[in-house]
Amino acid sequence: MSQFDFDTEINRENTDSVKWEFHVHSGKAEYWDDTKAERGDDRVLAMWVADMDFRCPEPVIDALHRRVEHGLFGYSAKGQAYEDAVCGWFARRQNWAVKPEWLSPIPGVVPALNVAVRAFTHPGDKVIVQRPVYYPFFRVSKNNGCEIVSNGLIYRDGHYTVDFEDLERKAADPKARMLILCSPHNPIGRIWTAEDLTRIADICARNQVIVIADEIHGDLIMPGETFVPFATLGAAAEQNCVVCTAPSKTFNLAGMHTSNMFIPNPELRERFTTAQAAQSLPGMSPFGITATIAAYNDGEPWLDAVMAYITDNARLVMDTFADREPRVKPIMPQGTYLQWLDCRALGLGKEALEDLMINKAKVYFDEGYIFGDEGIGFERINIACPRPLLKRALDRMITAMKPV
Ligand SMILES: Cc1ncc(COP(=O)(O)O)c(C=O)c1O
Repeated sequence: MSQFDFDTEINRENTDSVKWEFHVHSGKAEYWDDTKAERGDDRVLAMWVADMDFRCPEPVIDALHRRVEHGLFGYSAKGQAYEDAVCGWFARRQNWAVKPEWLSPIPGVVPALNVAVRAFTHPGDKVIVQRPVYYPFFRVSKNNGCEIVSNGLIYRDGHYTVDFEDLERKAADPKARMLILCSPHNPIGRIWTAEDLTRIADICARNQVIVIADEIHGDLIMPGETFVPFATLGAAAEQNCVVCTAPSKTFNLAGMHTSNMFIPNPELRERFTTAQAAQSLPGMSPFGITATIAAYNDGEPWLDAVMAYITDNARLVMDTFADREPRVKPIMPQGTYLQWLDCRALGLGKEALEDLMINKAKVYFDEGYIFGDEGIGFERINIACPRPLLKRALDRMITAMKPV
């Protein structure tokens, strides 16, 4: 029996939770008016944005209590304990010897992507992404005047792979300056192999396409799977990348706004930190610093337990659809706590599928189409939730899918 309780459902009402404080208006989810937020057993179940419905590790909560007791919360910056905790984590968990001088904290990975696009591209340049993919990649590129080019993933027999020939062609375009790599890949839950990553690294280095490796999900690895950090693939890869990491997904600390970029190449680091300074992003929060140190130093048993629990949740999704609604084909994720459901055999258009989920089944997922056209007919569900909630959501979905 695990020492951790992930089964108990914790009420998140009135906690300003982006995930839960929404209401449905004209058939769509709407936010920012918590007075209208849905309540009660019959409410739409929130399984969209990537935060977990579990309490974070107790050592983090204890450390935050102690920090609150001090009562002074002035401007804060990282010290030795922070660097030791962060560098120690990547050495232990990812077998990656990061150097403290590579480290650049920033309030979030999306802000970091924004900074990276500003630092390394000019308006009119092309940014390569691999759709279906985490949709803010599109926004950070377009907002800075860049054109998005998709090196779409190949989907065959329930398995995604990289289209390397297409990547060769797209990276050879002199306007292509950057690849935003999602590793592990959200929404499909794939962990790229060392071979995949080496080929990507080689193509990008040969064509002077800088790789922004978004590894925010790099700690969320299913038991038995292996994650390879991009910067460990050799000097060419290491010197041609910015790696985005954070304790936010790993330990359910997204609201702490603490992320860490690693940039081994000093010239790229200089350009990144200059662009970051130009944007006047806020510095570090004392709570973010405290939570990160405690999580990285003392959170490992919790993380191993939560990933075992999430893996069982993913299997439950696989088995439930296989038994009760085989037209829906979920993919077993190798990493992340997101599961990608192929719903195309239901034969519904994208509006009809969305309507089925949110209005009939009363479950709120991220619709596949927001990850790019390659995601049409798919749903992304967040399975980092207590199993009773997941079972209710599965029941609701399957009931709503039955022909009337
Ligand atoms: C791939 C990926 N990158 C970045 C983020 C968000 O990062 P942040 O909250 O640090 O901006 C997410 C959140 O879901 C994500 O899945």
